[in-house]
Amino acid sequence: MINDSRTQYGMLSKILHWGMALLIGWQLMKFGDRIADGEHWVGQTMVPWHVSIGSLLLVLIVARIIWAASQHKHRPEQDPQTARLVKAGHGLLYAGMLLMPLTGMMVMLGGGYGVNAFGLQLIAKGEELGWAATLGSLHSPLAWALTALIIGHIGMALLHHFRGEAVLKRMV
Ligand code: HEM
Ligand code: HEM
Repeated sequence: MINDSRTQYGMLSKILHWGMALLIGWQLMKFGDRIADGEHWVGQTMVPWHVSIGSLLLVLIVARIIWAASQHKHRPEQDPQTARLVKAGHGLLYAGMLLMPLTGMMVMLGGGYGVNAFGLQLIAKGEELGWAATLGSLHSPLAWALTALIIGHIGMALLHHFRGEAVLKRMV
């Protein structure tokens, strides 16, 4: 049950998939800061958790990569005609999920703000770091790219589902 099989994703893969999808959706609310400088309900209720949830996501993506590697040999099979494309798409989603929190950390490090997650000081405040700020400047473009990927991913999942294929069923 906990492990994946050739026909179904297992419990842990499903919890990681849907739990992280929810948290990443929450993180993308940070785009809302562009509206009225964050002076509205999105900016005030969801966004203050950005660094904490982002740090949690960094731990979760490392765990997910290790878990995916351990399940690699017995995950559900892909249609051979599109298997390469699907694997590339999933690979890019993994890259995005890893690079988002890493570059987010760089924004904080670059500005000398330190990183505080759920009240825990993970990185102390310090001097501004030019190299970290440069890497951090990738955070926003990567967020746009990840958003586009996620929209494509959801679109493909729904397309397969409404064609009557069991792709969505094996993840729910
Ligand atoms: C999966 C994790 C993450 C996602 C999806 C994400 C997403 C985003 C998005 C959508 C924005 C708005 C960009 C814009 O308006 O152009 C943003 C900005 C920001 N994020 Fe994240 N983020 C994540 C993790 C983190 C982490 C871990 C930190 C800090 C430790 C962080 C720090 C920041 C900061 C300081 C900004 C505002 C500065 C900027 O726009 O460059 N983020 N993030
Ligand atoms: C932040 C949002 C999301 C991300 C980052 C994401 C990422 C991924 C990744 C990396 C996989 C490969 C399996 C794994 O390693 O877990 C996957 C599989 C899957 N996702 Fe998502 N996902 C997201 C949201 C969604 C949503 C909203 C849906 C439903 C409409 C969905 C439907 C699926 C399905 C059906 C599969 C199985 C595909 C297959 O077996 O080929 N995902 N997702």
